[in-house]
Order: sequence, then C-alpha cells, then structure tokens
Amino acid sequence: MQFGDRILQLAYHLAQWSETADGLTCTYLSPAHRAVAVEISSLMQSAGLETHLDAAANVVGRYPCKDANARTVIVGSHYDTVTNAGKYDGRLGILTGLLAAEQFVQSGKQLPFHLDVIAFSEEEGVRFAAPYIGSSAIAGRFDAALRDRRDAKGISLAEALCEARFDPKAIPALARRGADVCAYIEVHIEQGPVLLQSNLPVGIVTAIAGNSRFGVVVDGTAGHAGTVPMNFRHDAAAAAAEAILAVERRCSRPGLLGTVGRLSVPAGAINVIPSRCELSIDIRADDDELRHDAVKDVLAALDEIAERRGVRIKSAPLLDAPAVQCSPRLQDLIAQSIEQLGVQVFRLASGAGHDAVMLDGLTDIAMLFVRCGNGGVSHSPLETVTATDADLATRILIDVLERLPP
Ligand code: HGY
Ligand code: MN
Ligand code: MN
Repeated sequence: MQFGDRILQLAYHLAQWSETADGLTCTYLSPAHRAVAVEISSLMQSAGLETHLDAAANVVGRYPCKDANARTVIVGSHYDTVTNAGKYDGRLGILTGLLAAEQFVQSGKQLPFHLDVIAFSEEEGVRFAAPYIGSSAIAGRFDAALRDRRDAKGISLAEALCEARFDPKAIPALARRGADVCAYIEVHIEQGPVLLQSNLPVGIVTAIAGNSRFGVVVDGTAGHAGTVPMNFRHDAAAAAAEAILAVERRCSRPGLLGTVGRLSVPAGAINVIPSRCELSIDIRADDDELRHDAVKDVLAALDEIAERRGVRIKSAPLLDAPAVQCSPRLQDLIAQSIEQLGVQVFRLASGAGHDAVMLDGLTDIAMLFVRCGNGGVSHSPLETVTATDADLATRILIDVLERLPP
C-alpha cells in the first residue's frame, strides 16, 4: 500500500513524545507538544512543502500554486491529544494531508489552488480548558480573553506562549480571509462504532454536534469526619455527586449526551468532610435548542442542589459551540471519489467536535471519517485504525483535491 503503512508508522513515531512515561499525553505547549511540532515541521519540509510554525504553534506546510494569487484549500487536523490518548485522533488527518501533498509534489501535479496542510496546535482543550486555540486563530475567531486562562499550575496561556517564545499578540494576525480560502477538508477517525458495525472503511460527515462545556466549583463546609452529624453537613463532594447524577438524568433524554469528565476534591483527606469539589460538564446535541434547554435545566438543578444542601455552586462557561453542517457540495464531491474507488458511500453525523467547527463560517467544510477498530473506542490507548483504511482515506483525499474547483 502506497500510504497506509507509512501513516501508521508515522503515527507511532509521533506518539513517542509524551508527557507521561507510559501512554500518550501531549497537551498545548508542553515539551512533548513542542517536540512534536518540530517533528511535523521536518516531515513537511522533507515532503517538499514550504513550512512554518505560526504564533499559535500551528505547523503549516504549503504546496503552492503557480498562480500566487490563487485561493487556498486547507487540509489537516490537530496534533495535541487528550490525556492517555490514542495515536490517531487528530494525527491521522495531519498525516493523510501530508502524504497527499507529498504525492502532488513528487508527481509534479499542479493544483489550481495553494494546498495548506495545517497541524493545528490545540483542539482538545485539555491544558487550559480552551478547545480550538489553533484553528480558531486561523479562522479569525481566537478569543483574546483566553490569554488569561490558567492551567492547573496557575500558568496563564499568555505566559505559556511567551515561555515557548511565541507572541500572544501576534495570534490575531493569523486570521485567514474567507475570500482567500475555497475549502477545508479534514480526515479524522470516527471515534465511534458506526462504520465498524456497518462494515465500512470510510464515511462522509453530514454535521458536527453542538457542544456546551462548564467548569463547576462546589463550596461546602469542611469538618471532622468523626464528629459532625450527617444532618449537619454541607458536604461539597456529596453535592457534586448529586450534580453528576442530575447531568446524567437530564442528558439521558433522546438526542443528548452529558459527561462529567473531570472530578476532584482539592487537598482532600480521608477524615475531612470535603469543603470544595471541582468538576466539568460537557453537554452535546445535534440540535442547538435541545442542547441549550438541557444546559438551562442542568444549571437549574445545580441551584436547587446548592439551596437544599447549603453549599455554593458556581459554574463558569468554557465553550458554547453551535452544531455545524458540512457543505453538501463538498460531501457530494467526496461521495464521487469514494464511488470512483469502488467503495459504498455512507453519511453520518459527528458527536465529537473537530477543528472543522472553527473553520465553518470562514469557508465550506467537509470531513471524511475513517473506521475505528476495537469497538470504535477513542480517547484511549486502545484507539486503532488499519493501514488499509488509512491508505484508502489518503487516496480519496487526493482524488477529491484533484477534482476540487478553485
Ligand atoms: O471533545 C471532542 O469532541 C473532541 O475530541 N475534541
Ligand atoms: Mn479528541
Ligand atoms: Mn480530534
């Protein structure tokens, strides 16, 4: 296979840089993250692309069009990861784009547009609870207020950027003009079981679910575990437990997903009634009104729990990303390429968020999903794709780029 084996080999290669001794964790501007950026830059240069690292730590590789005034097509995905991640979330999209561009360089095929392969620096929102930093910068949607967002060690985003020798003030200038960009196409693992269960290697994404995220702090009253009667307590962790069940209950209605992914009792001790508990809330739906209603109800449930238990519950919004539709024009173009390669066309929605969410509005967006093995698991070291499917996805991307009008 021309591309598949090399993609898996490169995904393993990039996974060697991690913040943890075992498993893959690569969060924004960590030493591992900086090393991966250098490695992706060198892969892009070896592929013959004009390469640079931008002010948000995106790695950009360009296969230029002969016409300097041509518009640009952007392909790619993100190189940051969640904690204890799989090797393919984000990186598959970068590597398929890289090998497609390399194929054009080597064959000398001229495209009627500049082709930018972008390895976006921060999509997951792990370190600063701020997703899409890299792609929002390119899309001209970077929220300057994020510069003051602090990580678990109290380091602000601006400080982390300066420490890594980036200039936070240079980020807004990364914004591309819509008039200059003709399409954004992202190859990504499905991160679910649908393609696997349908026995299909790829699928065309129709829409990407909307996503609301909150940071929640519950403040109760500390006390001695052995002396405070149960009915006198204002236990922050017990209140948080009710909050988690409130999210689960409300988001068990059709069309919704609700998750509490982070939960902690800072400086907790076995024999102390928790005075503080911190948690995150992530609510998603294809329909924005459904999602906003669920958010409203969950926040009302938090108020009721606080009142009844005599604790204070504060929730800070971290993200309110609307659901986005993928371009029907680009979906059909991808469908033609899939058919051309003798594969059944299948369309599906994405429950996961992607950098494409940020590029929506700047240009037409499209995504090609690739089958996940191991039951479709993702955000886990068990994440897997086959070389055959990665190879097919790359050949589909090349065919789409050869058909795409400028
Ligand atoms: O959370 C998501 O949906 C994506 O993996 N960032
Ligand atoms: Mn992810
Ligand atoms: Mn991803």
